[in-house]
Amino acid sequence: MTDLSGQTCVLAYSGGLDTSVAVAWLRETRGLDVVTVTGDLGSVGDLDQVRDKAVRSGARRAVVVDAREPFVRYFVWPALQADALYQRRYPLATALGRPLLAKLLVDVAREENAKYVAHGSTGKGNDQVRFDLSVAALAPDLKVIAPLRSGMNMTRDEEIEYARKRGIPVPVTKKSPYSVDENLWGRSIEAGVLEDPWEAPPRDVFQWTVDPEEAPAKPREIVIGFREGTPISMDGEECDGVTLVEKLNAIAGKHGVGRIDQIEDRLVGIKSREIYEAPAAVVLHTAHRALEDMVLPRESLRFKERVADEYAELIYNGLWFSGHHQDLSAYIRSTQRHVTGEIRLRLHRGTATVVGRRSDNALYSHALATYGKGDAFDQKAAEGFIQIYGLSLRNQARLQGLASGEGAMPDALRTLPAGPSPAKRGSKAASKRTKRA
Ligand code: ARG
Repeated sequence: MTDLSGQTCVLAYSGGLDTSVAVAWLRETRGLDVVTVTGDLGSVGDLDQVRDKAVRSGARRAVVVDAREPFVRYFVWPALQADALYQRRYPLATALGRPLLAKLLVDVAREENAKYVAHGSTGKGNDQVRFDLSVAALAPDLKVIAPLRSGMNMTRDEEIEYARKRGIPVPVTKKSPYSVDENLWGRSIEAGVLEDPWEAPPRDVFQWTVDPEEAPAKPREIVIGFREGTPISMDGEECDGVTLVEKLNAIAGKHGVGRIDQIEDRLVGIKSREIYEAPAAVVLHTAHRALEDMVLPRESLRFKERVADEYAELIYNGLWFSGHHQDLSAYIRSTQRHVTGEIRLRLHRGTATVVGRRSDNALYSHALATYGKGDAFDQKAAEGFIQIYGLSLRNQARLQGLASGEGAMPDALRTLPAGPSPAKRGSKAASKRTKRA
């Protein structure tokens, strides 16, 4: 193995066993001087403890950054405004965190004048791609080392043994049977029995959400306020983004909202079974989309859905720092200028249902929509509208015929025998109904 003696390597450090062992491994097998950097995106419990553990694992310096605020402001909110859900379900918590962690890695590498950075991702997942490409985009001159895919292949027991011998603190609690990644925007759980896609997720998978069956029987109503696409309040009370997301995770989680179970296509070509807990993300995506329904013209809604898929894909695939992202985000930002208003949701046993919406920028017009008094819609004009709108259809019917044909008018339907008319069969019930009306 190449000896990189004396060179500095900055390692993305989670405080877990893998990355703790990696600190020692990089030193011993590559001769590297290791500096760790830990970004707290909302799941690192005690920052001092993490710093201490990094040093005890052999790091020359351990940097710990509370990055929750920038995470929400510059990564979570843009993804929310884009309505970005990978494969229409996954709110992308892990995928959004990686580019920020990579950015911290690069910052510290610059400070240290280091030529090497490292991360603890395996060679089978998406996270390695996100780290490698984010670093490539921000600092193409840096070399990335990923010990877990390049030689540090130890079983968990071997890692514990390796750590023990070197006085690296080893976990005292029983190892979770799953691979878990957490941040403010959600909790990702994979592996273990979940690898059997037929197996329902066991209870111990979930930590943020109550089993919907055991959630309160009484629904909870909440109101989320948005300003230009950014959530700013709950129940009329303004608060910062981090607080809002934390609050919603707690409240919606208590009502069993936010569980997602999906078969997902990894970039590397593997289909994998993923469980997510993302109470705040599910509530906010539902609310944001509902507000957009009120204020965006239908063409924007339709086009934006395509942009949403594209945006989700680029986040998932590790292309956060890319020209494509810059261009899409200019469009998305522009669409948000009217997205100000409030959405009322009911949280109940696993569901978050929109029950009310209001906005000063609403395109919803009561005068146009109403069937009651004050109707401003000219119904007579509809005739002319349909005349022109249907012109090409009439033309087709006249010149090519539309009363038969595959799919739209199958033969079986065309030759449907005329049975007794419904009016005859249900005449009593029908007349009753008419009377009441
Ligand atoms: N499948 C998700 C993604 O690619 C989550 C990955 C979670 N990582 C983990 N180490 N459990 O974004």
